[in-house]
Amino acid sequence: MNQSNKRAYNFNAGPSALPLEVLEKAQQELVNFQKSGMSIMEMSHRSATFEKVHNEAISRLRKLFAIPTDYEILFLQGGASLQFTMIPMNFLKNGKTASYIMTGVWSEKAYKEAKLFGEPVQIASTKENQYRNIPTFDEIDIDTDDAYVHVTSNNTIYGTQWSEFPNTGEVPLIADMSSDIMSKPVDISKFDMIYAGAQKNLGPSGVTVVIARKDFLAKANSEIPTVLKYSTHAESNSLYNTPPTFGIYMLGEVLKWIEEKGGLTAIAQQNEEKAKLIYDVIDNSNGFYTGHASKESRSLMNITFRVADEELEQQFLSEAKEAGFIGLNGHRSVGGCRASAYNSVPLETCKALSDFMIAFKTKHQ
Ligand SMILES: Cc1ncc(COP(=O)(O)O)c(C=O)c1O
Repeated sequence: MNQSNKRAYNFNAGPSALPLEVLEKAQQELVNFQKSGMSIMEMSHRSATFEKVHNEAISRLRKLFAIPTDYEILFLQGGASLQFTMIPMNFLKNGKTASYIMTGVWSEKAYKEAKLFGEPVQIASTKENQYRNIPTFDEIDIDTDDAYVHVTSNNTIYGTQWSEFPNTGEVPLIADMSSDIMSKPVDISKFDMIYAGAQKNLGPSGVTVVIARKDFLAKANSEIPTVLKYSTHAESNSLYNTPPTFGIYMLGEVLKWIEEKGGLTAIAQQNEEKAKLIYDVIDNSNGFYTGHASKESRSLMNITFRVADEELEQQFLSEAKEAGFIGLNGHRSVGGCRASAYNSVPLETCKALSDFMIAFKTKHQ
């Protein structure tokens, strides 16, 4: 616990930490938003006041993430999980293939949904290596007839991250960026679609950001339910039905905070510093701590590690909890420990964890 403001050392994997400044501003504006006499949650999504918030969030996202004008920006619902379904529903047909690159549980879930609509193919997988690494480019062979190639840019559970993306040529590249969106600048033009639930780097849960090239969206199937068509949302500026208004407001405030921090280059630099504080302790611990991910595939967002033996690992987790660290248990499917250091996790929180890890090792080795 950070005693100066009573904030937990929050390493939750998602939903996760939000910037204190954003929470305080939302608190100030909660009951009477911009002298309207009501909260943002109580007003119509068709009101001029809400539409301004909505449109500003879209334009701020475009500017900060350098999204070209030939891309739509959509705010949807249903989480990244609904995208696992909407993508093949819109872009696959019986007998049509798409390539999935398997780097963890979230890729598996995306692949499973695609099987309901067409013929997804696993063109590369690191499952045999317990998803410790990202495949190298020469392990990836793309079929030019594919409707698209799907990747998971950051693997929240295993703690791996793509540092560069394969060149898929004419085949559209789609990325699930749920756990590293806007953690660094990215060349958007390499992708035909990017999607992410907001609840890690961008705001509270409830909003899903979709960024998609307009001419890719134009290729979508038309014989599908209205609300599941990207075109429905693109044509109505994501206001086809009632959007998650509070979530969109919070997303806009998080984007302002990113802007005030100096944009994505500054955010990326800080994310590197934060992750280094913890990876350095692991690497200099003579095997007391071991990382799950291979070094070349390490994620700057989710740092996964084990403590020398299982009993000590339980003790580490319980002492950490007592010391005010939240969310350090690894995902139930892999165990161990995981520190999620998303954009809004302060440097001091990572420093506190690295100090705690050093002190724990000194006491128990
Ligand atoms: C990489 C990745 N993809 C997809 C999901 C699922 O997201 P949602 O819960 O928004 O459906 C998660 C959730 O943690 C994730 O980390």
